[in-house]
Amino acid sequence: ASAASAMAIVEHTFYVKNLTISRLCKRHVITAVNGSYPGPTIRVQEGDTLIVHVINLSPYNMTIHWHGVFQILSNWADGPNMITQCPIQPGSKYTYKFTVTKQEGTLWWHAHVSFLRATVYGALIISPRDGHSYPFPKPYKEVPILLGELWNANVVDVQRLAVATGASPNLSDAFTINGWPGDLYPCSKQQMYELKVLQGKTYLLRIINAALNSQLFYKIANHKLTVVAVDSSYTEPYVTDVVVASPGQTVDVLLTTDQSVGSYYMAARPYATAVVAGALVPFANTTTRGVLIYDGCPSQATPLMPDLPAFNDTPTAIKFHTSLKALVGALFWVPVPLKVDHEMFVTIGLAFAPCPANTSCSGPKLSASMNNESFVEPTSVSLGQAFYHNVKGVYTTDFPIKPPIKFDYANDTVNNNLPMLFAPKSTKITELKFNATVEIIFQNTNIIGPENHPMHLHGFDFHILAQGFGNYNPITDRKKFNLINPQIRNTVAVPVGGWAVIRFVANNPGAWILHCHLDAHLPVGLATAFLVENGPTPETILPPPPADLPQC
Ligand code: C2O
Repeated sequence: ASAASAMAIVEHTFYVKNLTISRLCKRHVITAVNGSYPGPTIRVQEGDTLIVHVINLSPYNMTIHWHGVFQILSNWADGPNMITQCPIQPGSKYTYKFTVTKQEGTLWWHAHVSFLRATVYGALIISPRDGHSYPFPKPYKEVPILLGELWNANVVDVQRLAVATGASPNLSDAFTINGWPGDLYPCSKQQMYELKVLQGKTYLLRIINAALNSQLFYKIANHKLTVVAVDSSYTEPYVTDVVVASPGQTVDVLLTTDQSVGSYYMAARPYATAVVAGALVPFANTTTRGVLIYDGCPSQATPLMPDLPAFNDTPTAIKFHTSLKALVGALFWVPVPLKVDHEMFVTIGLAFAPCPANTSCSGPKLSASMNNESFVEPTSVSLGQAFYHNVKGVYTTDFPIKPPIKFDYANDTVNNNLPMLFAPKSTKITELKFNATVEIIFQNTNIIGPENHPMHLHGFDFHILAQGFGNYNPITDRKKFNLINPQIRNTVAVPVGGWAVIRFVANNPGAWILHCHLDAHLPVGLATAFLVENGPTPETILPPPPADLPQC
């Protein structure tokens, strides 16, 4: 028998509309897909074509992004608002069509416009094609674990208020596991995620951090977890008792139910790092929990609670993030490209911007920048369409500015680095030749305050060559690069008060955004984009936009 089966077409229709749910002692009207919160889990086999008809019956503009999917020659299906498409307006529809290939594991999908991804999200699970298998023993069962973040207020209003006042958005009211806050929140005793298990089996937990603005620690009482993949790339098995994930990241772990018959809480709470003027920035300091229940456990048993790391436990976070190694030789693993065409030094951090006109904002408004530029989305045509159709005046190609911006972590402050404090707004991007190799050195700044920023690149996975604290040193830190088995991801948590270096090959034409996955930072400019030119052969040319691509 032949190993390869025919590739399937997997087709779904997403009706995006209001849904009323009861959480935290309140009825909430949320925006949701197909009446489900979180949204439906999409399952494909590697090589399949996914077709999703999105019908927007909600009162808001909508787009859907397939987080981490390579979108080979299908940039028009990537989904970020005003980058690859104008939004799907209320009452309109758009069909996302793309092939999911050259990657396996856990990804997800989410709204990519305003704060709507708080409730418009779901898992996207890519299984090996027929004849292929995991590089670890087949688990008894697979379980998606979606970590989310919930507001009592309407999230679109939360974002509007932040824009109007120039402040950080209001903190969330709960974290959730598969949509449930768990019993540490008011009125939530019965709203707890339960995972029933058999003793002596191995489960694959597909953990997704879908929270808007919070990095999370996740633990299960008394159980070790073995990481086998992150961001749909296999890793060397890494045994840990705590998982750390920033928004956008996924972590696949094997859980062996090797404890005595009983019940055990799983719990998640924030890893929070932002400090301004020496004071911790308020964060959503709450804990969500669910429960793992062994078959045969008496129902009145009190579950054991895991001991979660403190909110500011950077050593635990950095240990997790630096211990992961790619599984060299796994299917779809790619070696580190050794010749670099573009080396980019990019500062990332918060800044201030003048108050927008006609708002109630008083004093400077929160802003964010990359290389001292605060990114503004185009308004009349998407970046990708402007690039494809050669529309002038939408963007400029001078990112990053030259010569590279100077930044000294130890000495630059609000007092002596005013340009970075008030970052200008612009739509500066980088144009890349097909197959160019890009190295980006992300340098966190602390002009307003240090923070860990999870940087997410659309369309490509990258190798994380090194990360560290303080100033990146081009001589000594380059010697620390792992060029053998660095982890491969689509989202890197750049250490608080530190730096990280990534490398990728721009082998896919189109417009690809690079942004901070803390949603508070995206609308204020912590983003840029790559515009990748077509390649030389027919298989390397981006087809024209589909006829139904939404227009502005
Ligand atoms: Cu998961 Cu641009 O996003």
